[in-house]
Amino acid sequence: MFPKNLISAENLNKKNLYQIFEKAHYFEENYNPKEKFDDLFGHTVALAFFENSTRTRLSFELAAKRLSAETLNFTASTSSLAKGESLADTIRTIDAMLVNMYVIRNQYAGVPNFVATITDNIIINAGDGKHEHPTQALLDAYTILKHYSKFEGLKISIVGDILNSRVARSNIVMLRELCAEVRLFGAGTLMPQHLNCWNAELHNDIDEAINWSDVLIMLRLQNERMQSGLLPSMSEYIKFYQLTLEKFIKKDKIILMHPGPVNYGVELDHRVTKLHNSMIDRQVTNGVFTRMAVMSLLAKK
Ligand code: CP
Repeated sequence: MFPKNLISAENLNKKNLYQIFEKAHYFEENYNPKEKFDDLFGHTVALAFFENSTRTRLSFELAAKRLSAETLNFTASTSSLAKGESLADTIRTIDAMLVNMYVIRNQYAGVPNFVATITDNIIINAGDGKHEHPTQALLDAYTILKHYSKFEGLKISIVGDILNSRVARSNIVMLRELCAEVRLFGAGTLMPQHLNCWNAELHNDIDEAINWSDVLIMLRLQNERMQSGLLPSMSEYIKFYQLTLEKFIKKDKIILMHPGPVNYGVELDHRVTKLHNSMIDRQVTNGVFTRMAVMSLLAKK
């Protein structure tokens, strides 16, 4: 059964995931810039972004429009939240405009769950604090599937600021459900305290990550969510954890992914992203098709 909302990667079982990949593939194969699909004809989608975003916001808007939905763009800083209106009243107000679906990004973990207690409409989590970013994990998985045509037996490393990353959380859950092997690489202070609840192996050597992996998912330092004092210095972090061209080209059969935005010169040497096995731009393109698939399947349920 397909879930009512997409708030966590845990909402999707293996069957749901392959339904999304098949639908995304259908949209990709049949994409025509001069014609729209009618999956969301008659639906209104509220794009409720309380935190900054480029990729997620624009790709959800494009996805909704390619499915013939009406879209409402909500920006917290220019809304009546700035006059003291509560989040609950804001949602009730948008609900009163006969919206059908909410795409929610918020700097606080748990906000999409909270909104689901206020409205019966469909909720999609577009990233909530350090909690989850399930559609990023979906587009990452779709990108991997298109490249390798399987997940079983694939070795996938997530490298960098795991502690503050909602992308890492969603990816670990989803890639495990798809039977890939996931390892985490990074500085000890950027790892969660209770790693054993994820049953994930922790390593700290980026050369080992490159050597072991079929897929390398690099993460930026999420300074907006990071406590101070977790790293001795930026130059030390760069020295030990930056993916340089010299390190990356030692391995032939590997792809590079990054959810973006990238801090070039910190976690990534910009020369690496020009290689044929960098998937960063393809992840963005695939983001529109996977988000179309999610919205279509949730609306049909
Ligand atoms: N990957 C991602 O969530 O990027 P944005 O913050 O630009 O949406």
